Order: sequence, then C-alpha cells, then structure tokens
Amino acid sequence: MTMTLATDTASDRPAINRAVAVLRAGGLIALPTETVYGLAADADSEQAVRAIFAAKGRPANHPVIVHVLDARALRAWARAVPVAAQALAAAFWPGPLTLVLQRGARATDLLTGGQDTIGLRCPSHPWARAVLTAFAGDDPTRALAAPSANSFGRISATRAEHVRADLGEKPNGAVDLILDGGASPIGIESTIVDLSGAAATLLRPGAISRAQVEAVLGSPLLDAPADAPRASGTLARHYAPRTTLELVAVARVAARINELRGEKIALLAPAATLLDHSSDMVLRLVAPDSVDEYARRLYSLLHQLDAAGARRLLVAIPPAGAAWEAVHDRLRRAQAGG
Ligand code: TXA
Ligand code: MG
Repeated sequence: MTMTLATDTASDRPAINRAVAVLRAGGLIALPTETVYGLAADADSEQAVRAIFAAKGRPANHPVIVHVLDARALRAWARAVPVAAQALAAAFWPGPLTLVLQRGARATDLLTGGQDTIGLRCPSHPWARAVLTAFAGDDPTRALAAPSANSFGRISATRAEHVRADLGEKPNGAVDLILDGGASPIGIESTIVDLSGAAATLLRPGAISRAQVEAVLGSPLLDAPADAPRASGTLARHYAPRTTLELVAVARVAARINELRGEKIALLAPAATLLDHSSDMVLRLVAPDSVDEYARRLYSLLHQLDAAGARRLLVAIPPAGAAWEAVHDRLRRAQAGG
C-alpha cells in the first residue's frame, strides 16, 4: 500500500507506526530521503536484507548502505572510527554523505557484499528521521539497510510513483509499504567517501561537493580506481534508462537532430535550443539552468524521457564546472553502454 504523508511528521503517527510495524516484522518500506527514495529494511535482520536484494534484483556481492540515526551508531557498525570520519559526520550529518569505514562485527557479509567495509549514512529528510527514530526506539544504534528504491541498474526514484511503477507494491510488487512524501529535495544520491584505507577516496560525487569534503579533511580526495568498482553506483552502466541515451554538446544539438531525422527522439536541452519542430521529436523537455534544480529534477526528467516512446534520448551536456560534477557523473552513467 501507499500512504501519502502529512506535511509534518508530528501529525502523522499512523504512517510512522505502520512503517515501524512493517520493519519490525522484517518487511520492506520505501521512504523519501533528501537524496532519493530508499528501500528500507531492518539492518539486523538477515531475512529482511535478503528481501531487499530480491526486490532490486541486485547481485549479492554489492554492498548496501546502512542508515543510522546519528554518529553514535558509528562505533556500533564500524570497527574503527577515524578522526576524519568524526569530523565529516560532525560537519555533514544529518545530510547527503555516506562514509565507508572498516566494518564492525554487527555488519554482516550480506550488508557489506562480503567486503571488509560498511557504508553508513545519516539522512536528514524529516520522514527518514521520523521513521528511523521510531524504529530505533531505545537503541540509537538500531539501523536500516536502505539502498535506493529502484531495480538494479535502473533510474533511481525521486517520487513515490517512480517506486510504484518500478518495484511495485505487494501482492504483485515487492514493497510492503510506500511512504509518499513528495519529491526528494536534492534528487541525486549521497556523496560517498571511503575512509577505510590510508587515503580518503571519493567513491561517488553527490550534493556535498568534493571541495566541501576536502575543506573539512584538510587534504585532497583521491578518485575511485576505475578498475575496482566496489560500489554498484560506480559501475559504468548505472542509473540507466531503457532507451539509448546520447549526450550532445549544446552547440551540436540542432545538427544532431538533423542527422537523426526519421528516428523518433526525445530531447532534454536548454530552452534556447528547443526550436526544432521536427515531427520525429516525441518529447522536448527544458533543461533547468541551475545545478540544484537540474539535480533535483534529473531522475524525474529521465523517467519522463524514457517513457516517451523514443528510439533515442538526446541530452544536451550541462555546463562544465565543479558544481556540476555529480550531475555529469549521473548522466555519463545513464549514457554508458545504453
Ligand atoms: O543517497 C543515497 O545514498 C541513497 C539513499 C536512499 O540513502 N542510497 C543509495 O543507495 O544510493 P544505493 O545502494 O543505491 O547506493 C549506495 C552505494 C552503492 O553504490 C553501494 O555499492 C555503495 O554505496 N556502498 C555501500 N556500501 C559500500 C562499501 N562498503 N564500500 C563501497 N561502496 C559501498
Ligand atoms: Mg542506487
């Protein structure tokens, strides 16, 4: 079932109680976070975490991130909590930052994909917090395994209807309860920083920028080695629409549309480039100008483009610059191998 949430968490005890009951019984809920919707289950229940993998069709060797209430949970789930982890948690939690640390005993192979590390994130969305708080009860270390609420390799969900259309609700779908809290305000997944080794490494860019993380660490972040994708979000082909997606420089959009005459295309480009009136164009969407709005709407736009019945999606490459790093990352992955 789907429960549409009230605007404030305090007035929606029934939804929270229902969510906690499902989680305590080992079930799956989809819930809004500030980044994207998460598919959550009790991180201490092996059967519940297995249900996440089954629902997503995710290979067992891919780790899931664990959502915690606050930094007190670090010691419960990680073997070692380096000073850098404390500093980043103090600076950015609750918020869109995932820390990868050496796993503690409580972090099962199922959660870590058999790796020596565990990914921990403390969400800031009022609904994610309300559910976590109620679920944790008197034990602040109790946590929720919560990867993004989409099938493996597909476009992430930033709205409840994306989850309904992809994973679906029981009995026909996979999710016991979908909490509908409207659109996720950030729209792309958390920044992932790996602190399990000698040097801090950026595994996935996100809303918290490289520069912000580096300012707290006082040192530059390494980039994830291309040959060792430990995070499924770092697989080249990820966040991908079903339709072939092609990135095109803004200056080339008109020419490319011309070249593709006769092929049904759907286009995402700045307003100024949307002049073409080709009948082969099945959908034209205006690309947001600001990076925050682009990120917030990115997955919704991709879902829309993918559903348009086009043979090819053309996406104008957004502006260059450090602020756009995470958007470029997601678009590159949406294109790869498509
Ligand atoms: O914003 C987010 O992080 C969202 C919301 C729902 O919290 N979650 C999310 O989860 O994006 P997921 O599972 O789709 O992506 C989390 C990424 C995956 O690429 C996973 O492989 C990686 O984190 N990850 C988790 N644990 C890891 C670990 N121990 N080492 C390396 N990567 C890890
Ligand atoms: Mg994901």
